[in-house]
Amino acid sequence: MDVLSVSSLKGGVGKTTVALGLASAALARGRRTLLVDIDPQTDLTTGLAVDPGSALTIADVLRNPSPDVVRQAIVSSAWTKDRALSVDVLVGSPRAIEFDAPAPRPRDLWKLDEALALIEDAYDIVIIDCPPSLNALTRNAWLASDEVLIVTEPSLFAVSAVGRAFKAMDELSEAQDVPVRALGVLVNRFRKQSIEHEFRVSELEQLYPRQLIDVRLPERASLQQAQGSARPVHSWPSESGKKMAAQFDQVLDIFEDAVRGIAHQGHGHAERRAVSKADQHR
Ligand SMILES: Nc1ncnc2c1ncn2[C@@H]1O[C@H](COP(=O)(O)OP(=O)(O)OP(=O)(O)O)[C@@H](O)[C@H]1O
Ligand SMILES: [Mg+2]
Repeated sequence: MDVLSVSSLKGGVGKTTVALGLASAALARGRRTLLVDIDPQTDLTTGLAVDPGSALTIADVLRNPSPDVVRQAIVSSAWTKDRALSVDVLVGSPRAIEFDAPAPRPRDLWKLDEALALIEDAYDIVIIDCPPSLNALTRNAWLASDEVLIVTEPSLFAVSAVGRAFKAMDELSEAQDVPVRALGVLVNRFRKQSIEHEFRVSELEQLYPRQLIDVRLPERASLQQAQGSARPVHSWPSESGKKMAAQFDQVLDIFEDAVRGIAHQGHGHAERRAVSKADQHR
């Protein structure tokens, strides 16, 4: 089971959109996929037209990551209807905010990792949609992940937030004594004819030559339309939808190649989880 956080410390840059696009790519590829909505805004849960009903949510999981609670907090998304394959959702909740302490106890940072350890065999890919802030929720997501994808828009404030995200990842890695890996920086809402956008992208190339992902997601109505109808972009019947889908496929390729590389080096998620558990019992 490979786990990816989709993150940025700036709001509204497209984290939820990218998480949904990558889940759509994973579904098209036949991967058993779980989306985790750890953002108290619950946009991912809304975007998947999930009716939580009486189900438990991420807030219950963070309080008590037991097998029963985790099972009851996961539901099938509307994408899954009439398909053999599933995209499931660990349902979001505004109450997740109760677990977003700015200075959490170290053991409260590993709750999501503990929960995902219980369902390791049930999914191939887990994608976590993070809130645009750096408190306990984002740190739970990062520590539960094999890789963190930083999403940015080509604008001044979003680019400066990329630097803050890298710094925060290094600090968390050091504090917890485990690797927190960046898959890279993904530019969203790119407009080719915009001089400002070209300038910000060249700035990112200079600042993060190795981390900048060579895919620019353009601004496209097809993405919003697919979201509005709670459908995966891979099933959206337009040329623009197909092009967007192909770009999410490329980003998923990069993630799958990266985790295969990690597995070869023996520093994967399971190993890291073993480290965290060992720490807790010290
Ligand atoms: N490439 C794109 N083309 C068109 N619309 C987009 C694109 N990316 C994002 N959007 C739209 O921009 C808005 C913000 O995107 P989204 O909700 O994914 O951002 P976010 O980073 O998750 O925001 P938040 O920080 O509030 O969680 C949404 O309405 C979404 O549909
Ligand atoms: Mg969001």
